[in-house]
Amino acid sequence: MIKIAPSMLSADFARLGEQIEEISRAGSDYVHVDVMDGHFVPNISFGASVMKSLNKLESAPYDVHLMIENPDQYLEDFVTDKTEFICVHQEACTHLSRTIQHIKSCGVKAGVALNPATPVVILEEVLSDVDMILIMSVNPGFGGQSLIPSTLNKIRRLDSLRKQEGFKYEIEIDGGVNLNTIADVSASGVDIMVAGSAVFKADDLGAHVKELRAAAEAVRK
Ligand code: DX5
Ligand code: ZN
Repeated sequence: MIKIAPSMLSADFARLGEQIEEISRAGSDYVHVDVMDGHFVPNISFGASVMKSLNKLESAPYDVHLMIENPDQYLEDFVTDKTEFICVHQEACTHLSRTIQHIKSCGVKAGVALNPATPVVILEEVLSDVDMILIMSVNPGFGGQSLIPSTLNKIRRLDSLRKQEGFKYEIEIDGGVNLNTIADVSASGVDIMVAGSAVFKADDLGAHVKELRAAAEAVRK
């Protein structure tokens, strides 16, 4: 079952609540929450207070992507009734195993993200602990970049590894997913597809979510 997670980074922040409700009504599986600190990535987005102010809306659950240094210091801030995943970057964690346990102790699912230049093998010792692995298909920091095709090989590798070894993690892709790339993305075996600019720059956000899902599912049949 393919899951679609529009990234609110590309939303019109003056109409954030309205747009989050619109994409949720259209059947989005998650609201992807891109948190950037201006240190781990060369951009600053928003923090937990913005995310929490959406709590009162009828929205899909949150898939929180922390592109920040020292994520352990801030994890609790992102835990709400709507938080399903908190995902940290491997590159930002000195004690990754401890951070994964910390996320789980907050009662949410633990994800680990890999930048395009970071190999899958670096996660070998935590594959049985993580609930989700996020493969960055662009260098993180900005929406609207082009997907780096070689990152799909990492998804294929993770998909065959879990089939061989019985690991339970889900695989997410983030960056450059749009109607032009989604067929290749879907064929790679990924479970959750983040789409930022493709959804929020469309004239009809809800219709675009449905179009992306249909295009992704067409490849799986
Ligand atoms: C990039 C973010 C992505 C980004 C995706 O650092 O993690 O979630 O918003 O945007 P698009 O879909 O426009 O590439
Ligand atoms: Zn993201």
